[in-house]
Amino acid sequence: MILEFLVWLLLFGRSVASSEQEDVGFTYNGFRGVNLTMDGLAQITENGLLMLVNTTTQQMGHAFYPHPLHFRNLSTADALSSFSTTFVFAIWKSTRFGGPGMAFVISPSRDFTGALPGNYLGLFNTTNIGNSSNHVIAIELDFLRNLEFKDIDGNHVGIDINDLKSLQSAPASYFISKDAKNRYVNLSLTDGQHLQLWVEYHGKQKQLNVTVAPINIPKPTIPLLSLKIDLSPIIVDPMFVGFSAATYALPVSHYVLGWSFKLNGEARELNLSQLPKPPLQKSHIKRRPRVFIVAFSVIAATFVSISIFFVIQFIVKRKNKFAEVLEDWELDYGPHRFKYKDLYIATKGFKDKELLGTGGFGRVYRGVLPTTKTQVAVKRVSHNSRQGEREFIAEIVSIGKLRHRSIVTLLGYCRRKGELLLVYDFMPNGSLEKFLFDRTTTETMLNWCQRFRIIKNVAAALLYLHEEWEQVVVHRDVKSRNVLLDKELNGRLGDFGLARLYDHGTDPQTTHVVGTLGYLAPELCKTGKTNPSVDVFAFGIFLLEVACGRKPIEPQASEECLVLVDWVISCWSRGTILDTVDPKLGLNYEVEEMELVLKLGLLCSHSIPTERPNMRQVMRYLEGEISLPELTPLGLRTAIDDTSFLPSKGFSDISIWCPLSSAMTQ
Ligand SMILES: *[C@@H]1O[C@H](CO)[C@@H](O)[C@H](O)[C@H]1NC(C)=O
Ligand SMILES: *[C@@H]1O[C@H](CO)[C@@H](O)[C@H](O)[C@H]1NC(C)=O
Ligand SMILES: *[C@@H]1O[C@H](CO)[C@@H](O)[C@H](O)[C@H]1NC(C)=O
Ligand SMILES: *[C@@H]1O[C@H](CO)[C@@H](O)[C@H](O)[C@H]1NC(C)=O
Repeated sequence: MILEFLVWLLLFGRSVASSEQEDVGFTYNGFRGVNLTMDGLAQITENGLLMLVNTTTQQMGHAFYPHPLHFRNLSTADALSSFSTTFVFAIWKSTRFGGPGMAFVISPSRDFTGALPGNYLGLFNTTNIGNSSNHVIAIELDFLRNLEFKDIDGNHVGIDINDLKSLQSAPASYFISKDAKNRYVNLSLTDGQHLQLWVEYHGKQKQLNVTVAPINIPKPTIPLLSLKIDLSPIIVDPMFVGFSAATYALPVSHYVLGWSFKLNGEARELNLSQLPKPPLQKSHIKRRPRVFIVAFSVIAATFVSISIFFVIQFIVKRKNKFAEVLEDWELDYGPHRFKYKDLYIATKGFKDKELLGTGGFGRVYRGVLPTTKTQVAVKRVSHNSRQGEREFIAEIVSIGKLRHRSIVTLLGYCRRKGELLLVYDFMPNGSLEKFLFDRTTTETMLNWCQRFRIIKNVAAALLYLHEEWEQVVVHRDVKSRNVLLDKELNGRLGDFGLARLYDHGTDPQTTHVVGTLGYLAPELCKTGKTNPSVDVFAFGIFLLEVACGRKPIEPQASEECLVLVDWVISCWSRGTILDTVDPKLGLNYEVEEMELVLKLGLLCSHSIPTERPNMRQVMRYLEGEISLPELTPLGLRTAIDDTSFLPSKGFSDISIWCPLSSAMTQ
């Protein structure tokens, strides 16, 4: 009997609870003390801001109202309730590639463990994106244009269902008046201004409206997005509501200041004056006692008037010091440009102590960006030619859009008179060259497994450049020095576009090279034409370098060993190809993999371009999906001798393409 009563109570109690939740609503003017279910980087700050992500890159954060919501009317089983929500948010990003943004989310689960950061907004991953079993509704505030998801621009609001390809989207803007010339006023989502977003769904009309506006103007009467859609197939019972945000390669700050939600009704208005202030805003400076202020101002006034002269002088000097060249057309590239001053501070004035290395085209410094505290590498390239500069900058910007885990991200650039600064992701382990050829230490030895992984990384990067990006990019300077190692010793290809710069603005007086001797495909010296097979050639040499731990040309070595390719071929023809393996590896390597790498290296550096595999085939050889064609050392050698590895005839005509002496000294 008692048991029966308890069961009844349980059932009844539950149904009471859920029928109460039908009209659930909440309003948070700031989040201090509010119980939200959070994960990833999301947190509530001391002053009550909901911070979805901090400045850590490639991460995500979620914050959800902790209780499940029942969007279906219990009385009329399948009718979907109306709902409405509004929140105030503020977002900053420091450069063009901060992003991708944040979203208001309605989802059957609060658990997004398998989701990806970056483009995927912390909502989906590559397998479940677009799947109708997701049941996810998201209103995205997206400030990274992603062609994969057919984004219209880099500053838009969109309605997403189960996917990040928006059903409807529009550049962030708000309606002012039918009569105005521009009925909508554009907004920037990411300049830190406080914006308010409204999402409203009418269950009977089956209409979803989204409106955005700055907080100091009343809610616009016409929404930005208005979509006729029946959400009842999407919404299951129960659902959770909350936010998701993700970061990409650069830090962004996302804050939600206040949030109000209501099922079956209009969300209560937020009390804007009660909302907490995000940190970058000037916070209230403590007021000093009056006497102090008076005394202080008298002293200060005299002091100021004396020093004003010096200050002006100082400012003028300083201005000159940090002067940069900015031309009209560069304004188009906007935040992709870094301020010289920031880079100057970041590298402590390009101090020698911060010098990471000296590359073919300039010196590289370690730096910490003053605004975001991100570690970067700043490459200082001196260039005197003005010709081709514009194309070059355009190219830099487009290269900056390359995104691949095995490519060192170019974050931006800065230009000064006769000087170009390129800002890259910082790679803590530096160049692979150091690991391969530095004979002074054994500690930094890479084992075979690490080397093989690096080889695959570089192959994947080249495949992306040649075939998978929107344009074909030829790197033109693949070599171990240009492969950098990240924290986990993954290989990342770096140093793009520099060869290109000197191509555009070729100046025969100085030693400009396109590529490095020893890695130059022979046909380059004859025709000067660049195509992906040139990279494949250099990649072949790179494979031999990694396997043998030797430079492609070793001037001190005996005649036989002078040119690495020749040496490997001659050992192979004697049946002792494994004699060429880097002695530092001892016997600790997979024989099969090693032979594959050595022979593939020879195949890739075949002197006849058409005999070389393309990067997709290379990838398949390395993954063991297909086996190498039958090769004989004799066949390879004939081919190589035939066309001669080093340029001979016709060399003088094209000498600027292959400046032997300058490349030798590199
Ligand atoms: C961001 O938050 C995570 C987790 O709360 C923390 O480990 C990390 O240090 C934070 N990063 C910054 C830059 O504040
Ligand atoms: C969608 O997800 C469900 C459940 O995870 C799965 O069974 C189904 O195969 C997926 N559909 C597609 C097209 O991937
Ligand atoms: C607003 O932005 C859109 C898209 O970015 C642009 O086409 C339009 O010209 C802009 N309108 C105004 C008034 O600036
Ligand atoms: C959505 O906007 C349209 C056009 O302004 C309006 O007629 C409709 O009532 C709105 N619906 C909701 C649910 O707010």
